[in-house]
Amino acid sequence: MTSSSHETPGTVDDLLIVGFTEGFGPSAEGEDPWSVQLARVWTLGDFTGKEGSSVLLYPPTGPVARVLAIGLGKREELDAERIRHAAGEAVRAAREVGARRILFSPLGAPAPIDWVDAGAWTLEGALMGAYTHDVFRTEDLADRKVLDNVSIAMPDDQVDAAAPRLARARAMADAVAWARTRINEPGNVLTAETFAQAAVEMTLTRPALKAEILNKADLEQVGCGCLLGVNAGSEAPPRLIIVTYEGPGATDAAPVAIVGKGITFDTGGLCLKGRENMGQMKHDMSGGAAALGTIRLAADLNLPVRLVAIVAATDNMPGAAALKPGDVLKAHNGKTVEVIDTDAEGRLVLADALSYAVSRFKPRAVIDLATLTGSVWIALGTEATGLFTNDDTLGEAVRKAGERVGERCWPMPLWPEHEEIVKSDIADLKNAGARGHSDGISAAAMLKAFVHPTPWVHLDIAGTAWADEPKGYLTQGGVGVGIRMLIEALELGLPVSA
Ligand code: BES
Ligand code: MN
Ligand code: ZN
Repeated sequence: MTSSSHETPGTVDDLLIVGFTEGFGPSAEGEDPWSVQLARVWTLGDFTGKEGSSVLLYPPTGPVARVLAIGLGKREELDAERIRHAAGEAVRAAREVGARRILFSPLGAPAPIDWVDAGAWTLEGALMGAYTHDVFRTEDLADRKVLDNVSIAMPDDQVDAAAPRLARARAMADAVAWARTRINEPGNVLTAETFAQAAVEMTLTRPALKAEILNKADLEQVGCGCLLGVNAGSEAPPRLIIVTYEGPGATDAAPVAIVGKGITFDTGGLCLKGRENMGQMKHDMSGGAAALGTIRLAADLNLPVRLVAIVAATDNMPGAAALKPGDVLKAHNGKTVEVIDTDAEGRLVLADALSYAVSRFKPRAVIDLATLTGSVWIALGTEATGLFTNDDTLGEAVRKAGERVGERCWPMPLWPEHEEIVKSDIADLKNAGARGHSDGISAAAMLKAFVHPTPWVHLDIAGTAWADEPKGYLTQGGVGVGIRMLIEALELGLPVSA
């Protein structure tokens, strides 16, 4: 997919997309054939700019083969997120008519949104909505029309101002696509090993990134007993993926650590999931993909910060040597954990990754992302990520950043009482409390034991990491949630409590 800032469509495959808010329609005076046509549709009342509505025009003359006019809804309700979603939705409609090249007029501009914002949000949503993952298809490829160019038409006097914002939108969509592809790759393709390879590969073309991969022997040596325990039932070896980023002119002494759950497939282990709950579990490495996608994007945007991304990668399998309920593991920081449920594997692998991050990198803040509990999915659905923290200033900064990019987080409690839930009768901690009781919170309470007192935010993305159906700029499958939020948060500065 290529994209450019201003081009004129010329071939029959081309499609021009224009947006209208309710009550602000096209005028027919002295304009090209499509706007004369659209003005007629508007006068008839067949298209009014209502959100989600659209009309496809085939002007009889002029350079544009097709025009898709889309409704943007009420003018006063138009914001960044609506524009992104409308652009993503429009791309889907464009694909249905077989367009190969599409040109957007910045949605919502020149009023109520200025050209540059509108152009950037339109491109961001359009490119995310244009994501596809077809590498496993071998049929019907020959005669499929492929969308291969998305452009934004900018007025001449806005081109210079828009250029960096459009480049940024492209970089963001590119990082999200990278993460989505990792997530969409099935468990037999994306293993801990190939996940680590993908991480190494992304550093090869980005000199500011350095990768370091710990294999099974390394993990034994540094004492990551929890990650090794989860891996015990698998034929595929585990990896701890470490990527560091040194931004230009970074002044912070200590980095921000971004830690991701990288379970490449979660069967539940011996506490096997039922077939209803197992199907989607290739996406249980979404947090890891987001951690790596974030550091990749930070490098592409040249952010002046220090970062480290750490992903604990393995599948969770019920092989002969598998972890059993009752087993006790020793984590990287020396704490012991009693395994109550082998399906609560995420907090185990994160325990090691968090402890490793804190002890080796002495970060000024830690943010982890994990598809950790069905409990948070049940509580918040697909609209919000569960946010847990030991530092309300940091938590609020991340929440605000998420709000700005359309990735909502909702604060969840984490009180001292919750820490009681994960105290074990025979070890320091246990990996689950009473079945079904505040599980998202007990998971967070266990993680806290491996990172406190470092300022920390835990993002439980179990409900937000996957889309069953396409919606706006979300395509079916992996969402790539977290990347844009964390980049926004890093740009805003990530304050912590004094
Ligand atoms: N990966 C799952 C959580 C999950 C569920 C993510 C649905 C995305 C969608 C996690 O490893 C898990 O199995 N959690 C258990 C924990 C329980 C056994 C304490 C859960 O939530 O049921
Ligand atoms: Mn599990
Ligand atoms: Zn899991």
